[in-house]
Amino acid sequence: MAKNKAVSRSRVPTHVAIIMDGNGRWAISRGLPRLAGHRAGTENLRRIITACIEFGVKYLTIYAFSTENWGRPREEVDGLMRILEDVIDKELAELNKEGVQLRHIGRLERLDPKLQEKVLEAIDLTKNNNRLVLNVAFNYGGRDEIICAIQRIINDGVKPEEVNSALVSRYMFTAGVPDPDLIIRTSGELRVSNFLIWQGAYSEWYVTSVYWPDFDKEELRKAFDTFAKRDRRYGGLSQTDEE
Ligand code: IPE
Ligand code: IPE
Ligand code: MG
Repeated sequence: MAKNKAVSRSRVPTHVAIIMDGNGRWAISRGLPRLAGHRAGTENLRRIITACIEFGVKYLTIYAFSTENWGRPREEVDGLMRILEDVIDKELAELNKEGVQLRHIGRLERLDPKLQEKVLEAIDLTKNNNRLVLNVAFNYGGRDEIICAIQRIINDGVKPEEVNSALVSRYMFTAGVPDPDLIIRTSGELRVSNFLIWQGAYSEWYVTSVYWPDFDKEELRKAFDTFAKRDRRYGGLSQTDEE
């Protein structure tokens, strides 16, 4: 019964961002290699995308590989690259059918040229879909994104007095996407880890100790239920105070 319980559409966040953390610990706790955890995490992502569509989420941003993750052992980095390639090969047609528009945030330059091409093709194929925008943060870092924005702002000859919040947002990798309403982090760490540091200025946070591969539709519903009860004040007063 609980599985089919719906979240009222008006309280579903428009933009959900997820730090999909805990794949390694999930695997180790089962005596499996870390990459098995990443595979399980990827299968879970597929389920969560479908759940987001069902709940009526419009934008989903997922942290798949950070600019700091290059510091992991070569074997793990290579495995994560292969997983991205496999996901595109195996899931793209179905995602396209489901109306998912794929986007990438981060820098593609450091990836293998063939993989870059694959990502660009996937983006092009799905560019007119509008059921769910899926931003894949891969080789993404919030500081790197801000540095990139500053470089382009200077390059474009923008005058200092023209720089404002709206302009900076337009220079982010997420240009045109509303800021995340809710950022979820699985596996319990209480840190930002360089994720959406500009866009997350007023996002609500939800942290659970559940490892990413176990974060199912029911866990997502719990996160949305919690979000629905939050009083988003943006530095002002709550609705009830104003009345
Ligand atoms: C998150 O899981 C996935 C990536 C960072 C690619 P981790 O690999 O960080 O899992 P833990 O934190 O070691 O358990
Ligand atoms: C954040 O998780 C990056 C991704 C989920 C892709 P990490 O596991 O890399 O972050 P830290 O090292 O715990 O801060
Ligand atoms: Mg981690």
